[in-house]
Amino acid sequence: MKYFETNFIKYKNNQLYIEEIGVEKLAKEFGTPLYIYSKNHFIKQYQEFEKAFKSIDHKIFYAMKSNFNLSVINTFVKLGSGIDANSEGEFFRALKAGADPSKIILTSVGKTKNEIKLGLEHNVLMIKAESEEEIELINIIAQQMNKTAKVAIRVNPDVDAKTHPYISTGLSSNKFGIDSKSALRIYKSRNKYKNIQFTGIDMHIGSQITSIDPFCEAVEKLSELYFEIEKDGLKLEHFDVGGGIGVTYNNEQSFTIEDFAEKTIPLFKRLNCEIIFEPGRFLTANAGILVTEVLYTKQNGDKNFIIVDAAMNDLLRPSIYEAYHHIQPIQKSENSKNIIADVVGPVCESGDYFARDRELSESKSGEYLAIMSAGAYGMVMSSNYNGRRRPAEILVDSSKYDVIRSRETFEHLLWDEKIL
Ligand code: LLP
Repeated sequence: MKYFETNFIKYKNNQLYIEEIGVEKLAKEFGTPLYIYSKNHFIKQYQEFEKAFKSIDHKIFYAMKSNFNLSVINTFVKLGSGIDANSEGEFFRALKAGADPSKIILTSVGKTKNEIKLGLEHNVLMIKAESEEEIELINIIAQQMNKTAKVAIRVNPDVDAKTHPYISTGLSSNKFGIDSKSALRIYKSRNKYKNIQFTGIDMHIGSQITSIDPFCEAVEKLSELYFEIEKDGLKLEHFDVGGGIGVTYNNEQSFTIEDFAEKTIPLFKRLNCEIIFEPGRFLTANAGILVTEVLYTKQNGDKNFIIVDAAMNDLLRPSIYEAYHHIQPIQKSENSKNIIADVVGPVCESGDYFARDRELSESKSGEYLAIMSAGAYGMVMSSNYNGRRRPAEILVDSSKYDVIRSRETFEHLLWDEKIL
C-alpha cells in the first residue's frame, strides 16, 4: 500500500511521527479518536503563501472555518495573518485567539443584525455583503450607530470551479454573492447609502479547486467590473480573491502556490489595490491527522470491514462529499499482507465510513490507524451525534506538544439541558 507523508508527518523506523513526536505515544497518552496537528506545517504553508505573493501588495486572511482551534488561529495571527470570520461565534473565537478586529473580515451569505452590529462595533476591516437587502440593512444599522460601514460586495462571477457540487460557490445557480450587473448598479448608486463606504470587491468560487483556470477566469471577470467602478469614480481599496486552493489528499494533481502566483500576479498587477486572500484548507489540511484505534475486524460475505473508534461525527468529509482521506497504520509492518476493506465507525448509519473498498494493510484490533489530511474541515465539522464526545486536539511543535482542546466529558454532552 501507499503511505502518505509530508515534511512534518512521516515514518521514522517504521513509526509514524508528527515532527519529533511519535503518534503512538500521543494515542496512548490521550486516547483515541485524537486529532493531532503539526504547528510547523501551518507555519510553512503560511510562509510559502506569503513568499509567493511578496512582489505585490497583498494580505492573507486565514479562513478560520477550516480549523478554529484557538491555538491554530493564534499561530496564524502571530504570523501576521488577518482572519476571515463567518459568524459571531467565529468572530468571538477570533478575538479570544488574539486577532485584531481591524484585521477581520466578516463573511457569510446571511448575516444577522447582531452580526452586523458586532462588526461595526469592533470596526472590522470590512463586511462582505451578499445581497441588496443586506446592504440596505447594513446602512440602517450603521446610521443608528453613527458609523460608516466599510463594505465589499461579494460578486458571483458565474464560473465553474469544477469541484464537488457541495463546495462549489461561484456559479449563478449557487446561493452566494450578487451577479455582476446588479453589483455594478449598486456600486454606481452608492450615494444613496450614506453610512456605507464601498471599499472592496470580493469573490470566492469554491473549495478544493485543483486547476488555476477558474480562478483566472473569475479574476478577469471581476477585474472588468473593478475597472467599470473605477471609471465611475470609485477607487476600491481591496480586491478579495477568497480561498479555494486545493491540496493533495490522494493523487490529485493540484497546482503549487508558486504556479498560482505566477499565473495570477500579472492579472493582479493590472489592478491598483491591495489583493486579499482567504485560504483555509491550503494552510491547514495536511497539518493534521485523526488517529483512531481498530476495535474489530470482520468479514461479511466477501467484504472485509475494519471497525474503528472514530466515526462520521468526528470527521464528516467522507460521508458527505465522498471525500478521500488516506488511511495508514501508525506502525508500518514490512511483511503485513494487503486486503481490500471498508473502514467504518460505530455510528448507526451506513454512511459512517472513512474508506470503501480500499487497499489497506491488514490490521488487528488494538492497532492504531491515522486518517490523513484531517487538519481542515475535520474537528470544526464534528458533532455529538449518537451521544459521542468530540475528540481531543493536540498541537505538536518540534519536540513539544500540548492538549489544545480536551476530549469532551459526559457533562459537556448534557450542557445546560434540563428535564421538565
Ligand atoms: N472564504 C470564504 C468566503 C469561504 O466560504 C471559504 C470556505 C474560504 C474562504 C476558505 O476556502 P478554502 O481555502 O478552505 O477552500 N467543508 C468543506 C469545505 C467548505 C468550504 C467553505 N468555504 C470541505 O470539507 O471540503
